[in-house]
Amino acid sequence: MSLDLLEAWEGRPVRDWAESWGIPLLEVHRSLDSTNDRIRRLADSGCEDFTTVVAEVQTEGRGRGGTGWWSPNGGLWASVLVGVESGARAELLPLVAGLALARAVATSCRGEVEARIKWPNDLQVEERKLAGILCERSGAGGIAVGVGVNVDLGGVKPPARLAGVLTTLAEWCAEPPTRRTLLGSFLSSLRTELPLSDRLSRRQLEELERLDALKGRSVECSGGVRGVAERIQSDGSLYLRVDGGYASIRSGSIRLIE
Ligand code: BTN
Repeated sequence: MSLDLLEAWEGRPVRDWAESWGIPLLEVHRSLDSTNDRIRRLADSGCEDFTTVVAEVQTEGRGRGGTGWWSPNGGLWASVLVGVESGARAELLPLVAGLALARAVATSCRGEVEARIKWPNDLQVEERKLAGILCERSGAGGIAVGVGVNVDLGGVKPPARLAGVLTTLAEWCAEPPTRRTLLGSFLSSLRTELPLSDRLSRRQLEELERLDALKGRSVECSGGVRGVAERIQSDGSLYLRVDGGYASIRSGSIRLIE
């Protein structure tokens, strides 16, 4: 496959951004199938941790559960390779990356937007989807952390299935942040959340509790369990109060039922 790599991005040579963020390699593509797929190919050829790939447009962007991810111009579509040590719990990575991304949104929007975390991998503003995170195994011991943030999609009409479901930073900020500001801030926050351990730290749990979009809400899990979401637990599961007891949900997606 021939690559459509940019030499300069957002006003500076791509190499300069990599250097100023302290990452081993940054690739910015005019167009790619999926940044997660590109990271996997780079990981197979032995690239280092924190190698990062950005695409202006993705032609086959992926979401969780095999769904497509609409990736036109104006979003931040990026993947970062993260190494996971043995003994660490890889399932914590979407939550930890979600924390880093929520912080990056707050910082780069100067506090004008507070994105909430919808377990396990969405960022929402007022129940509409601002961003998603897709973590996939890549190379030996690595994981591609793919983040998609709807920054400023320029009023392009989304596909019908997304109408009223997604939101963009441009809807909430007087001046939406540049993608470089958002990405630089995300990389720096992600670094502070790593390395991954087998449990979330007390500080991470407190921050997740503060940003939890589901806390106290009645939900239905993709496995069919219904209950009230109480909290995210240190092993990354979602703790639900259900009829006659409690349930810990380890994976799947969640739908609000009221
Ligand atoms: C989801 O909410 O379902 C996860 C969406 C993740 C989208 C990002 S965009 C960059 C990276 N490349 C992909 O193909 N997907 C992720």
